[in-house]
Amino acid sequence: MRQTIVAGNWKMNASKEAVNTLIMGILSGMADVKSKVIVCAPYPYLSQVEALITHSQLHLGAQDLNANVSGAFTGEVSADMIKDFGAQYVIIGHSERRSLYGETDDVVAQKVQVALDNDLTPLFCIGELLEERESGNTEAVVSRQIQAVIDRVGIKAFKNIIVAYEPVWAIGTGVTATPQQAQDTHAFIRSMLAKHDGDIAQSTPILYGGSMNPTNAEELIGCEDIDGGLIGGASLKSEDFLRICKAG
Ligand code: PGA
Repeated sequence: MRQTIVAGNWKMNASKEAVNTLIMGILSGMADVKSKVIVCAPYPYLSQVEALITHSQLHLGAQDLNANVSGAFTGEVSADMIKDFGAQYVIIGHSERRSLYGETDDVVAQKVQVALDNDLTPLFCIGELLEERESGNTEAVVSRQIQAVIDRVGIKAFKNIIVAYEPVWAIGTGVTATPQQAQDTHAFIRSMLAKHDGDIAQSTPILYGGSMNPTNAEELIGCEDIDGGLIGGASLKSEDFLRICKAG
């Protein structure tokens, strides 16, 4: 049985005051949440969130890392630094990183490896563009994205990886994949993992992301191969986020 996981991706939205209000709001409603809940904060707020969530059920993640260990990389942040502020998780390969910052499958695979080498659990994001779906290439795209990581770290490493399937056309658009569309792709992803290792395929959490909200979360998370959600917009309000956390 895979545990439901709900992760909030705040993206570049935060202030000290907003973080305080959001975390206190989430903490006040966690008593009856059974899912594992992760909040992925922008780097400057990791320390603040770390302090606020001590001794709680909340887990902390970052939104990216640099693939190098340390050195002359102005503006970049390493796995060690993230860990130093209590993060156990890190989003890698988000479609915004791929499209806006030119991250290739190879760069994403390198980052997954660095995260694993440093005992951080990657929330490894994959997903197709609208034109790729419309031209019938969804499975080819997600296969290519996953294969790049398998080639780099091996299938057994997926014991410590969370996959997030996020159709790019559903991210921040208010257009959600239907439960059937999402389930079909999740089942495909699991079958692809199973070709390499059946046990890994069964144990790997595959989250859905893309306009998940309190209204559609239950139906999506209720699908057989959907093990939770990676939530952008709806993770910024504690009431909405908690309702999604309780949907699992
Ligand atoms: P969204 O973002 O929930 O706002 O669509 C999801 C994500 O980008 O992880």
